Amino acid sequence: MEYQTRLESEIDTIAFGMTLAESLFEGGRIYIKGDLGAGKTTLCRGILRRFGFEGAVKSPTFTLVEPYELPELSIYHFDMYRLSDPSELEYIGVDEYFQPGNLCLVEWPERAQDRLPTGDLEIQLSIIGRSRNVLLRSIANESLCQEVAKRHRLKSSAIGHKLTVGDDPD
Ligand SMILES: Nc1ncnc2c1ncn2[C@@H]1O[C@H](COP(=O)(O)OP(=O)(O)OP(=O)(O)O)[C@@H](O)[C@H]1O
Ligand SMILES: [Mg+2]
Repeated sequence: MEYQTRLESEIDTIAFGMTLAESLFEGGRIYIKGDLGAGKTTLCRGILRRFGFEGAVKSPTFTLVEPYELPELSIYHFDMYRLSDPSELEYIGVDEYFQPGNLCLVEWPERAQDRLPTGDLEIQLSIIGRSRNVLLRSIANESLCQEVAKRHRLKSSAIGHKLTVGDDPD
């Protein structure tokens, strides 16, 4: 299945990451695609915040992977942008990170070609003027995509409802 929504600002992207994180307590493999500056790292920051990480989140460009061993979960944030050859992934022992129960977030997964294990969810971010569009697509985990879509719809409608009530002159 697919789910698409508009993210109007950086805050929306972080909030979307936090909502997504609520479905990731058991770990998972999230492959995040999109042009330079589309908001991939921002989305990862939202996910990491939800698990209690408050520090700066930067793309791990020179090391390929940034580990976050958090109390609830081990999260590994990859950025494959500078991967010159997919075979490099074997040198860093990529399979060690992709263990059940870990959460792997991968920016630029297409640069790794077929050297990565099958993902659960693919996220495509696109730049639309000043905002962003996000498209979720299930790869190997249909129910994860459905759950995230449901959570996001519920939250958006709750916020929309509150605004409508607040704006109502009656
Ligand atoms: N929904 C949004 N609307 C507008 N700006 C956004 C949105 N989400 C993120 N941004 C902004 O886009 C810029 C780039 O974000 P980010 O670094 O996350 O992109 P990226 O996809 O990781 O880029 P790269 O491919 O270079 O790693 C940041 O300034 C961020 O604040
Ligand atoms: Mg990035």
